[in-house]
Amino acid sequence: MSIRLTAYEFFAGGGLAGLGLDVANPGGVSGIDIVFANDMDRAKAAAFTANHPQIPFHLGDVWDLTTADLPGAPDLAWASSPCQDVSLAGGRGGLTAGRSGAFWGFWRLIEGLSREGRAPGIIVLENVIGLLTSGAAQGEDFAAVCTAMAAGGWRIGALEMDAAYWLPQSRPRLFVVAMAEEIAAAAPQTRAPNGPFHSSRLIAAQARLPQAARDAWTWWSLPVPSRRNLDLDALLEPDETAVWLDDGEAILALAAPLHRARLEAAIASGRRTVGAAYRRVRRENGRKVQRLEIRFDGLAGCLRTPAGGSSRQYVVVCDGGRARVRRLTGREAARLMGVSDDYLLPPSQSAALKLMGDAVAVPVVRALAEGLLKPALSARRAAA
Ligand SMILES: C[S@@+](CC[C@H](N)C(=O)[O-])C[C@H]1O[C@@H](n2cnc3c(N)ncnc32)[C@H](O)[C@@H]1O
Repeated sequence: MSIRLTAYEFFAGGGLAGLGLDVANPGGVSGIDIVFANDMDRAKAAAFTANHPQIPFHLGDVWDLTTADLPGAPDLAWASSPCQDVSLAGGRGGLTAGRSGAFWGFWRLIEGLSREGRAPGIIVLENVIGLLTSGAAQGEDFAAVCTAMAAGGWRIGALEMDAAYWLPQSRPRLFVVAMAEEIAAAAPQTRAPNGPFHSSRLIAAQARLPQAARDAWTWWSLPVPSRRNLDLDALLEPDETAVWLDDGEAILALAAPLHRARLEAAIASGRRTVGAAYRRVRRENGRKVQRLEIRFDGLAGCLRTPAGGSSRQYVVVCDGGRARVRRLTGREAARLMGVSDDYLLPPSQSAALKLMGDAVAVPVVRALAEGLLKPALSARRAAA
C-alpha cells in the first residue's frame, strides 16, 4: 500500500529539503508531499516556485505567519533555520540575535499548532555544527532549543551528518529531530551514542544540556552508508568548455607553504589531479595575509555564501605538468548538493551559488528520511 505523508518546509530556500524527502521507499511509504513552504528571500522564492510550481509557497517573514496560514495537520515540519549567527564561519551572536532568531518565529507556530491539536508528528531543525556551542554560555542556544522541545513534550535527539558520506563535498551539519512520543516509540534508536552520526562534539553538547532536555533525549539511529564512489572531478564541467582564469598563476602564488608543496607534487606527477581551493585571510606574524588553501582529497570544501558574493570556491586542475585555475560554477555547486541537472538555477552565477551555498544536501535529507523519519511515521500510520 502506498501512503502519502505531508510536510511543511520552513526556511525553504530553493526547496532542497523537499527534494530529499520526496522519494520512493519499499516500505510502503512512497514519499512526503510538501503542502506548505515559506522563505522571505525573493530570489530564492523565484527559484523555489520555478522548480516546484505545484507547492503552495508563502513569501515573507516567518514572524508574519499565523497557524491559520498552515494547512491541515502535517506529519513533518522541516526547518532549515538561518545559520549565520551560529555559524563557525561568521560572527557568533547566537540564536537570539538577528536572523537566527527566526527559529523562534517557527517555534511559536509549532506551539500554536499543538494547542490546536494539529502538531506535526516530527520536527527537524537543520543547522550548522556551531549551534552545539554558540551562545553567551557555551551551548546556550542548543540548550534553549532542546529545552523548548522537551517542554512541549517531544522526544529529542540529534545527528551530525557530513554530506561527504554521499557527495564529494565536506559539509557537516546538525539535524535536531523531535518526535511525538508515540512516533518516537517506533523510531530506530540506540541506548547509547553509537556510530559516526553521534559525533564526539554532539555527545559533549548533549552532556551539557539541562536535566529536562536530557530526560527527553533519545539517540536516534541511522544506517551508515556504504563508501562514496564519486569524487569532485566526476561532477565538473568538461575542461574544454570551462572559463580558465588569466590570473591563475597569481592566485596559486597565494598558496601557503604546505599547500604549495601539495600543488607542486600534483603538477610534478604529470597525472590529472583536481583540487578545490578557497582564498582566506590568515594572520601571520601579526599581519593579515591572503592565502590560498587547496585540497586534493577528491572533495570540494563546504559551499558557502559570504555576504557580497566574494570568496567563491576555485577549481584547480593539474594536468600534463601545468596547473590551471577557474571558479566553481553554479551548476557544479548544485551537483555538489546532490541536485540533478534538470533543476532550474537562477541565471546569474552569484545567485545560483548563493542558493546552493545556503542549502541542505539532498542525499543527506534522503538518508535521514529513509533511515529514520519514514520508518517512524509509517509505523504510526499503519497502526492508525
Ligand atoms: C540555511 S537557508 C535554508 C535553505 C534551504 N534549506 C535550501 O535547501 O535551499 C535559510 C533560509 O532562511 C531564510 N530566512 C531567513 N530569515 C527568515 C525569516 N525571518 N523568515 C523566513 N525566511 C527566512 C533565508 O532566506 C534562507 O533561504
